[in-house]
Amino acid sequence: MKRIIRFKLNGEEVEEYVQDSITMCDFLRKQMHLSGTKRGCEEGECGACTILLDGGAIDSCLMLAAEADGHEIVTIEGVMKDGVLHPLQREFMDKWALQCGFCTPGMIMSALSLLNENPHPTELEIRDGIAGNLCRCTGYAKIVEAIGAAAEVMEREARA
Ligand code: FES
Ligand code: FES
Repeated sequence: MKRIIRFKLNGEEVEEYVQDSITMCDFLRKQMHLSGTKRGCEEGECGACTILLDGGAIDSCLMLAAEADGHEIVTIEGVMKDGVLHPLQREFMDKWALQCGFCTPGMIMSALSLLNENPHPTELEIRDGIAGNLCRCTGYAKIVEAIGAAAEVMEREARA
C-alpha cells in the first residue's frame, strides 16, 4: 500500500507518496535521489545510513519512510549551507579522516548529532558518539581528531 507523507527534508517541506514497506534509506536513495546516505549492512550494524531525525542520529535502514510523517529529516546533502562546507566536512578533509569515503556521510551525521548535544566532547565522548559507525579504512584516530577540531572551529565561529 502507498500513503502520502509530509515532512521537512533538508530544510524543505516535502509531500510524497511512499510505499508502506520502503525503508527511509531506500526512500532517500531511490525516490528522492539523495545517494549520500549509504546502504551497508541494512540491519543497524554499520551506521553508513545514519541521518538525523528531529536532530538525533538514527539508522535510516531501520526506519520506515512512512514514519517521517510530521518530522524533520536531515541527510548529508543538507549539511552544507549556502555552498559552504560545514566545519565537520572541512575537518574530515583537512585531517585526512576519510579514505574510501563510504562511512563518511554516516560518520558526519553521527558527529553532528553528538556536537548538537555536546559541543565540547572529550575524546572518549567522541569515540562513544561514533561507536555505531564502522570504518574499514581509517583506524578511527583521524576521524576522532577531525571531530574534535570541528568542535573547536564551531565554537570559534559561534563566538565570532
Ligand atoms: S545500512 Fe543501516 S546500519 Fe548499516
Ligand atoms: S573511509 Fe572507507 S570505510 Fe571509512
